[in-house]
Amino acid sequence: MCGIVAYLGNKTARPILIEGLKRLEYRGYDSAGIALLENNDITVTKSAGRISNLEDCLTRDASNASLGIGHTRWATHGKPNTINAHPHQDYTGKIVVVHNGIIENYATLKKWLKTKDVPFVSETDSEVIANLIGYFYAEGNDKQGRKASGSTSKFEWAVQEALSELVGTYGLAIICKDYPDTLIGAKKGSPLILGVGEKEFIIASDASAIVEHTTQAIYLSDNEMAIATSEGFRTKTIDNVEVTKSLKEIEFSLEEIELADFDHYMLKEIYEQPTSIARCLGGRIDLKSSRVVLGGLQDILRDLTKTKRIILTACGTAWHAALVGEFLFEQLARIPAEVEYASEFRYRNPIIEEGTIVIAISQSGETADTLAAIEQAKERGATVLGVVNVVGSTIARTTDAGVYLRVGPEIGVASTKAFTAQVAVLTMLAIELGRRRHLSNEYAYTLLKELATIHEKIPPILAQTDHIKEIAKANIDKENWLFLGRGLNYPVALEGALKLKEISYIHAEGLPAAEMKHGPIALITDDMPAVFIATKCSQYDKIIGNIEEVRARGGKTIVVATEGDENIKQYADHLITVPDTNEYLQPMINAIPLQLLAYHAAVLRGHDVDKPRNLAKSVTVE
Ligand code: AGP
Repeated sequence: MCGIVAYLGNKTARPILIEGLKRLEYRGYDSAGIALLENNDITVTKSAGRISNLEDCLTRDASNASLGIGHTRWATHGKPNTINAHPHQDYTGKIVVVHNGIIENYATLKKWLKTKDVPFVSETDSEVIANLIGYFYAEGNDKQGRKASGSTSKFEWAVQEALSELVGTYGLAIICKDYPDTLIGAKKGSPLILGVGEKEFIIASDASAIVEHTTQAIYLSDNEMAIATSEGFRTKTIDNVEVTKSLKEIEFSLEEIELADFDHYMLKEIYEQPTSIARCLGGRIDLKSSRVVLGGLQDILRDLTKTKRIILTACGTAWHAALVGEFLFEQLARIPAEVEYASEFRYRNPIIEEGTIVIAISQSGETADTLAAIEQAKERGATVLGVVNVVGSTIARTTDAGVYLRVGPEIGVASTKAFTAQVAVLTMLAIELGRRRHLSNEYAYTLLKELATIHEKIPPILAQTDHIKEIAKANIDKENWLFLGRGLNYPVALEGALKLKEISYIHAEGLPAAEMKHGPIALITDDMPAVFIATKCSQYDKIIGNIEEVRARGGKTIVVATEGDENIKQYADHLITVPDTNEYLQPMINAIPLQLLAYHAAVLRGHDVDKPRNLAKSVTVE
């Protein structure tokens, strides 16, 4: 939920830290700060609000510091103000820390440190980390009073001692006034990457803050730390056991994280979808044999084919994609499937019998609830697959096998291209499993042939953006919307509601259209737009009936319908058309007008589309 960046090298650190924080701002933007170590002195500058506020606070004097750490925050403990902003300096002034994660035993540790007369200034759990390191560093004894020992430097030892006391999650960058040539990073449960350049090192929460300096990176695992100096870097466990980590290539380029000519990353990513879906599907559909080739699953496809039950677990938009997956696994592969909110699954002591496959879906690959659900599933013997976008992310490295979305970094907090790619991957998997079980080769071929070119059906929707903007404008004063669909269009309705909610702050609810008469229809007035996803499908006549029920009560309807459907025009106050495709493939298409509807509503309401209030791109805390 926060963004960390740190630099040690032969360049001036300050501009690199600020630029890196701007690339990470989508991870949290309540407050920001940097600390620079220069001439054996540490200068800490921090401010509430956006990084631009921090820039205004920075002194105009040039800084030659070549070592520094920075942080942009999504508040978990303590209000989003300057005092609680990171970096946090310890009471001796020698240790400075930036932290992403949650320390669950911070209150106990804070209490113990106070018995040692250690003062505190903030309400945060992160300050406890700084003071704990500072205490061990100053005293040279561990909690039991034992003297520092071993070959490590006193700084490394103090960090290891402190980390061994922490319960919870952390991604950390740490510097010490007495070690102007040393930068330490440590990871447990929150992402942290060490970029290795020419005589320079960048530590960051994700690769977007590293890629413009180097594409060579070390991905730390939990309970590991990296020590970077001008001599090079070392990696070890926090128990001081040296570990060898191989350099990996960061698999995306700078232009993929640039805004280009778009006003917002979200709009850029909506418009990327013809390309991103093509990339996601590319090389994975073999029409000659009517097969799907998912390299990451080859070793377990047999188990998957024989599985008795599939549990899909995720959060937010990924959960909506999982609902599409459930429908497709049951319809196309005739495999019992169910969807669980990861946040619920992790605490429900779930029953997982022999032969169950769990599929975890996550764009970031760092969502804490989804990670915890994976652990629960693994503890109960399930094979766990990951459908993930960020290469090398924790979920990608924790699951038994998986499929990458391959859509490049998704910066906008509101997920768009990742959603359609998640649906594309689940669709491919359902077809392949179906083909291996009951689906005829002919029908598998029909679906795959259509899927292979589905991305060509997106531009006609994007071309309606001005029309969709007019629909948003006509309803912009409405504070409550309904999104309604049946069958595969029900998860699409949920996704449309979430998109609108999270960036325009309009209250929106997604429902199965047939559920309206069981209560929600009492809400209908002309002040509550009802968005119907009513493309041609097996329940088309039923959805027309639901639209009529709403209109008969004075409700205004915004209808997403199939191109050329003349019949539906009479039922729509506003009509958006989408190209026809196979019913099973329609969700990838039908979500896109709803993404644009939400985008335009948010812009018309004057909100920051890419950084909506209270949200962050990756929810790495529970
Ligand atoms: C979607 O627009 C939201 N930003 C949010 O619901 C998101 O889908 C959810 O937090 C899951 O994130 P993940 O896919 O990275 O796990």
